[in-house]
Amino acid sequence: MPKPKSQPAPPAEDRILILDFGSQYTQVIARRVRECRVFSEILPFHTKASAIAKLRPSGIVLSGGPASVYAKGAPQVDRAIYDLGVPVLGICYGMQLLAHGLGGKVEKAEAREYGPGMLRGDASCALFKGLPARLEVWNSHGDKITKLPAGFKALGKTENSPHAVIGDPKRHIYGLQFHPEVVHTPRGGEILANFVHRICGCRSQWTMESFIERTCRGIRDQVGDGRVILGLSGGVDSSVAAALLHKAIGDQLTCIFVDNGLLRANEVAAVEKLFAGEFRIRMQTVDASDRFLKRLKGVTDPEKKRKIIGNEFVKVFEQAARDLKKSDPGHYRFLAQGTLYPDVIESVSISGNPAALIKSHHNVGGLPEKMKFELVEPLRQLFKDEVRKVGEELGLSKEIVHRQPFPGPGLAVRILGEITPGRLRILRDADAIVLEEMRASDWYYKVWQSFAVLLPVRSVGVMGDERTYDYTVALRIVNSHDGMTADWVRLPHEILARISTRIINEVNGVNRVCYDISSKPPATIEWE
Ligand code: XMP
Repeated sequence: MPKPKSQPAPPAEDRILILDFGSQYTQVIARRVRECRVFSEILPFHTKASAIAKLRPSGIVLSGGPASVYAKGAPQVDRAIYDLGVPVLGICYGMQLLAHGLGGKVEKAEAREYGPGMLRGDASCALFKGLPARLEVWNSHGDKITKLPAGFKALGKTENSPHAVIGDPKRHIYGLQFHPEVVHTPRGGEILANFVHRICGCRSQWTMESFIERTCRGIRDQVGDGRVILGLSGGVDSSVAAALLHKAIGDQLTCIFVDNGLLRANEVAAVEKLFAGEFRIRMQTVDASDRFLKRLKGVTDPEKKRKIIGNEFVKVFEQAARDLKKSDPGHYRFLAQGTLYPDVIESVSISGNPAALIKSHHNVGGLPEKMKFELVEPLRQLFKDEVRKVGEELGLSKEIVHRQPFPGPGLAVRILGEITPGRLRILRDADAIVLEEMRASDWYYKVWQSFAVLLPVRSVGVMGDERTYDYTVALRIVNSHDGMTADWVRLPHEILARISTRIINEVNGVNRVCYDISSKPPATIEWE
């Protein structure tokens, strides 16, 4: 992937830096801080204090992590951060680390403390301002502090730990044994807000309006009179990127939309209507369905399908981009991408964070590497929920901003076995009915994904007096937070019945509908 040559200037507002020691919750901490309308950024734990100082943070959070501070090779922090005069909050491993680093003693606890606990916080501590004396908290740690560093005092305790909260209010350094960022610590967001606002003095400046304004300025500065190409998929990220870029540079943006022949019913027309029609964005649709389907002929292996589609996409996109470049040499110098913040955070190798792994598996192909484009990534500071807010702010409809994820390889991974025009037609028709009924019953936005899968299974049925021997459609309707785990939705039987009846009556070639009641893991959301 081409390296970005220049990025928009760093934000001018107050910011909190989070040093990542590999906790699965590090991104959640960043989001909680942003919910306080304060910009937050995650950096690897080994970032030097001098580099941190240059970013002029208002506060630093040391995340949790799976290691033990006294273990060999345990990730360390540059201790000079404690002398920057910037408030520090250590969470779990982060707390043990700062206690250990500042001269306290950390030891292995007899029993690992995991799960809910009741905290009694010191009312005089700024972290607990406005909160009740007793708070439910969530613990997950195996070490405990047995001696406090000089200048520190205990500021809260649980049944099992006299040092559940520690701090040196003079130096503004605090530690929490529990996880304030998780939902199981119901008032944890307020504890973090107290740190961010009261201890670090951050103002609430991180709003989507200010983001849009500043980012548009940044895009104009970066691009000048150049032209930008964006691959539009119809998904949330590329749609919001398109609207944002269009606001910033108008006709200097051209979107390329590749029709791979594996899209849902009416998708091409809907995307064209919205972006070319309503938004008046310059847009080119490349109808490449024939070449995709030709390459997929006879292919049944799911990973092979993905590879073919990924490779073909790059080729088609490259060709379209090359043609544009030729049409106006010297100006098409930029390639925009809807990269989000979770994709750019440098993953910590000790974390084993499965989120990082799943991404690479699902990234369909790469983008033109050899083409010497400069990257424009206007969403690279944002989390998904923030992208949705930006989309809403830019006037995109709920239909676009809250649409369910759709895999890059499209319907190809929802047709088990070979992909033929006939099977595509069946799945498209069935899928359109699922979508229609989910929307009509208001369930579409309540679930993570809802779609039809075409099985290569034929079974006997009767229609009227006729015996049929037709295909089976499976319904996959799941709830999930991030696609990593999922559970099947207990959809009301009447809706299931309506979907089933409609598919069997209206879709030629289907005589049986099944409901998939497997959770992930061990099943996956898609069938291929
Ligand atoms: P699985 O099937 O792995 O899906 O449980 C998890 C989430 O990822 C989506 N998915 C994909 N997205 N390319 C994509 O862009 C893919 O190859 C791909 N496979 C699965 C899936 O729709 C679900 O949201």
